[in-house]
Amino acid sequence: MSEGIVTASYIGATILFILALGGLSNQETARRGNLFGMIGMAVALLATMFAVTANLEILIVGMLIGASIGLVLAKRVQMTQMPELVAMLHSFVGLAAVLVGFANFMDPGRLQHFTGVELTIHDVETYLGILIGAITLSGSVIAFGKLSGKIGGNPMLIPGRHWFNLGLLLGSIYFCVVFVEQSAAGGGLNPLLIMTGIALLFGIHMVMAIGGADMPVVVSMLNSYSGWAAAATGFMLNNDLLIVTGALVGSSGAILSYIMCQAMNRKFLAVIAGGFGTTTGGGSSSASAEEQGEVVALQAPEVANLLADSKEIMIIPGYGMAVAQAQHIVNEITKTLRSKKINVRFGIHPVAGRMPGHMNVLLAEAKVPYDIVFEMDEINDDFPDIDVSIVIGANDIVNPSAQTDPDSPIAGMPVMECWKSKTTIVLKRSMATGYAGVQNPLFFKENTRMLFGDARASLDEVFKNL
Ligand code: TAP
Repeated sequence: MSEGIVTASYIGATILFILALGGLSNQETARRGNLFGMIGMAVALLATMFAVTANLEILIVGMLIGASIGLVLAKRVQMTQMPELVAMLHSFVGLAAVLVGFANFMDPGRLQHFTGVELTIHDVETYLGILIGAITLSGSVIAFGKLSGKIGGNPMLIPGRHWFNLGLLLGSIYFCVVFVEQSAAGGGLNPLLIMTGIALLFGIHMVMAIGGADMPVVVSMLNSYSGWAAAATGFMLNNDLLIVTGALVGSSGAILSYIMCQAMNRKFLAVIAGGFGTTTGGGSSSASAEEQGEVVALQAPEVANLLADSKEIMIIPGYGMAVAQAQHIVNEITKTLRSKKINVRFGIHPVAGRMPGHMNVLLAEAKVPYDIVFEMDEINDDFPDIDVSIVIGANDIVNPSAQTDPDSPIAGMPVMECWKSKTTIVLKRSMATGYAGVQNPLFFKENTRMLFGDARASLDEVFKNL
């Protein structure tokens, strides 16, 4: 294929990726955004394939293997496992950047293609690509462990961790200089390997130091890192499309990290340094359930009566709704209540669930109308006018201790102030804590009622009684 067609296809793919990002920023256009992204990726893959002149069969075999693994994984993955799958995919981008970097460095033609300043620039690109790739790789593997529960949620805070990070940073800069010097003389593998070790260590340390409640920021930050790793690979390979696509992913991930930081009231720069916002593992809010008092439990028929007698209802979904796959019955109940002229709204906390937009995706899947789904900021002041708030499998995002306990790991995080409504009904299976591992004083408040059990089973019962 001629170079012109390849370039035109790359520009077309870039435009489609930008349209995809634009579409994904809104629930109503998200499907279209996804479609643009898929077409863009197909165009990019085809153009890249046709631009390859040698070893095309290896490329096709590799693509077939990759596509088959992707298909099987995508078919098998449960909705609740999506966040860890995304973390795993980020780690692949990191791994690819590391492998491409080393392959590039070991390419025998490298010293013939580049000399002088050009060689230095190429070497720095290779070094940065491997550095960002290795941080993304190990950080994402640890994030995968934390999100899937294989690694505990408590932050691992080693003494002098910021000095340790600074040491790793200075080490990377030093070995970059050594690498560039040695590379010009035909060597350089050792400093490259040492830096890869340092970067892997940094990725592990960065994510291990982050507490459960702060994981949303990590997920979006690793998303951003994976984009920059791809962009660095694009520079190494001199591939414009990879540079642009990587930069798009990198910058949109950075914007998402910023939004997440704001949502969680954390500082962006502290996030980048790693191990932010967490000074204690538990805090006084980890007081045991007995110390907090008694809870009042209701049965499904009583909950149905409370709902039917209300005028204003706010539904607050959380991770438990995803686990129980209760979104469809939630929609049925919503329809029934609305047909009785009851105003039902949904309040979505920005970090509800385990990935950005998790609740919006589930509600959209169940066909809950978009115009009754609101962001936290839009409805948090309305709770005093709400008759019944129903918390469905949420915990950290409705924990008042974020406002009242400065030692809590979630201190300062904005939360849904549902306790201000006349009655709050909490659906969960037990008195277990949420992702951040802190006890929730909401459950013990005078106007809170618990409906224990799997959220879907409980709501099925409520629906029958309605
Ligand atoms: P959580 O605080 O994790 O609470 C979920 C609650 O759901 C649990 O207390 C659990 O209690 C209950 N539950 C689980 N399965 C259930 C079922 N089948 N039926 C009924 N209840 C069930 O969730 P949240 O309130 O949505 O808060 C999200 C947390 O995850 C935050 O700490 C956030 O920082 C973190 N996080 C978020 C993200 C993103 S980007 N959204 C990413 C990583 C981490 P029982 O076991 O008693 O049922």
